[in-house]
Amino acid sequence: MKAGDLSRLITAARKGKPTLVIRNARVINVFTGEITETNVAISDDTIIGVGNYSCENEYNAHGAYLAPGLIDGHVHIESSMVTPASFAQVILPNGTTSIIADPHEIANVAGKEGLKAIFALSKDLPLDIHFMLPSCVPATPFEHSGAALSAEDLAEFADEPMVLGLGEVMDYPSVVAGSEDMLKKLERFFGRPIDGHAPMLTGKALNAYCLAGPRTDHECSNFPELKEKLRNGMVILIRMGSAANGVTEMLDGIVAEGLPTDRICFCTDDKHLENIRSEGHINHIVNVAISRGIRPLDAIRMATLNTATAYGLKRVGAIAPGYRANLILFDDLHTVVPKAVFANGKLVDPNTPIPSPAVPESVKNSVHAAPFGPEDLKLKAKTFMPIIETVPHQLVTRLVTGIVPTDENGYFVPEDGLNKLAVIERHHATGHVGVGVVEGMHIKGGAIAATVAHDSHNIVVVGDSDTDMCFAAETLQACGGGFTVVSNGEVKALLELPVAGLMSDAPVETVLCKQRELLNAAHMLGADDACDPLVLLSFLALPVIPEVRLTDCGLFDVRTMSFLYNSVRSFSDASGRA
Ligand SMILES: [Fe+2]
Repeated sequence: MKAGDLSRLITAARKGKPTLVIRNARVINVFTGEITETNVAISDDTIIGVGNYSCENEYNAHGAYLAPGLIDGHVHIESSMVTPASFAQVILPNGTTSIIADPHEIANVAGKEGLKAIFALSKDLPLDIHFMLPSCVPATPFEHSGAALSAEDLAEFADEPMVLGLGEVMDYPSVVAGSEDMLKKLERFFGRPIDGHAPMLTGKALNAYCLAGPRTDHECSNFPELKEKLRNGMVILIRMGSAANGVTEMLDGIVAEGLPTDRICFCTDDKHLENIRSEGHINHIVNVAISRGIRPLDAIRMATLNTATAYGLKRVGAIAPGYRANLILFDDLHTVVPKAVFANGKLVDPNTPIPSPAVPESVKNSVHAAPFGPEDLKLKAKTFMPIIETVPHQLVTRLVTGIVPTDENGYFVPEDGLNKLAVIERHHATGHVGVGVVEGMHIKGGAIAATVAHDSHNIVVVGDSDTDMCFAAETLQACGGGFTVVSNGEVKALLELPVAGLMSDAPVETVLCKQRELLNAAHMLGADDACDPLVLLSFLALPVIPEVRLTDCGLFDVRTMSFLYNSVRSFSDASGRA
């Protein structure tokens, strides 16, 4: 708040002089659980009162429900593949007016410069954006990321106005083991919000984890897990984005046992633009919760006040004097579909693009792979070759072994339903290239490549021809990153993601159109609908999802946390690090 603003707002409230009145609304009070037919008075971006107000500028709600704008408790903006301004344009009309973002992806590519860039891109938008600083960069020691963030690095950003605390502490083994590096980070943010990320952690290990500082968790996938974490003092964020494990079971458990919901919130984590457009955003989770028996007012409170309280946000999440005029208007209390959204006191126009701050040069041209060619993708076959078997409709994979087709020199040749997969280090031109065999992608006559490859975001490419695989990777290197589908030396579809190789600065409709073109082109090469081939490809290099993954360091068995074999090029020590 600028100097003089408070005095002006106090005067406006005392004299009853708003700049906007929303009249004839059924106003939801998340503090008392009351719904009152009344008016809400706003001065610029702040609510100054609820009751009998009038002014020249009035918006007639015609008896619709008026609730606080919804809050996403944990989201990675980068996963939308658009800039924060475009992301705001898509989620605001769905009623999400505040987000708590974790810039983990851009930090893995560009480190401190990545953080500075996403803060700059998020300033002065109608969406209220807060940040948690990514705690695990790099995410694992089994791949090469673009950067590493130490406790000292994070400390440089701790006092940024947009920063709330420390982001999801996904390296829970380090926390439980009391590793020095991790403890430094936790101690630096002691007393501030610290997000947890501890799937299936239980018993004494969970106690140790909670004691260390993380106070939220968005990884619960069943009701007993949710209850144990609640019991241990954690705030639970029920996640419904691209991943939505066990949501209905957890909601049913909460209803059946009549658990208090004041320490339960909602988040999306990762949700693609197409899905947000088709089913909604946080309002979708609210509606699912209501459909499972959570009382509508409780569900709305879970998506507003609860989240604001958990993260220490003082002026959002309720309709009361001094709160930000972030509001949503909807007709049916059991199905929250906003007919109007106010952000900072202004009516949101879903059809008007939100201008983005300029993209900082420091996060452009982020693809720096060492020169590579088809020779670098050769893979010597073994008698019992480890193969990554994809599982329909899931991101988990299975490790199988088999005899693979070879040429006369004993090198793997993709055929019989087997493709070649490669991960090419693209941050510091180290020349690391991991190569493996994957079953279930069904790519024939070409290749698909991406620079969105969680969590280190190297170039991941799948195909049946070394020449096309190299061509696809070179295409992405030339344009600064993105997704591409190529066939016989021709680019069939390309989505350029020039912002760190993760986000596009093109208009939302252009990005959506190019995503559809990519999918169509992938299907032309034989990819089936059992799993979105682009999403699947983006996760095949993430060495924390069972059972087997390929990184630029080699083929990795997630169950034993060890390499089955090392990268085919530039591998220099047994741990997988150069
Ligand atoms: Fe996350």
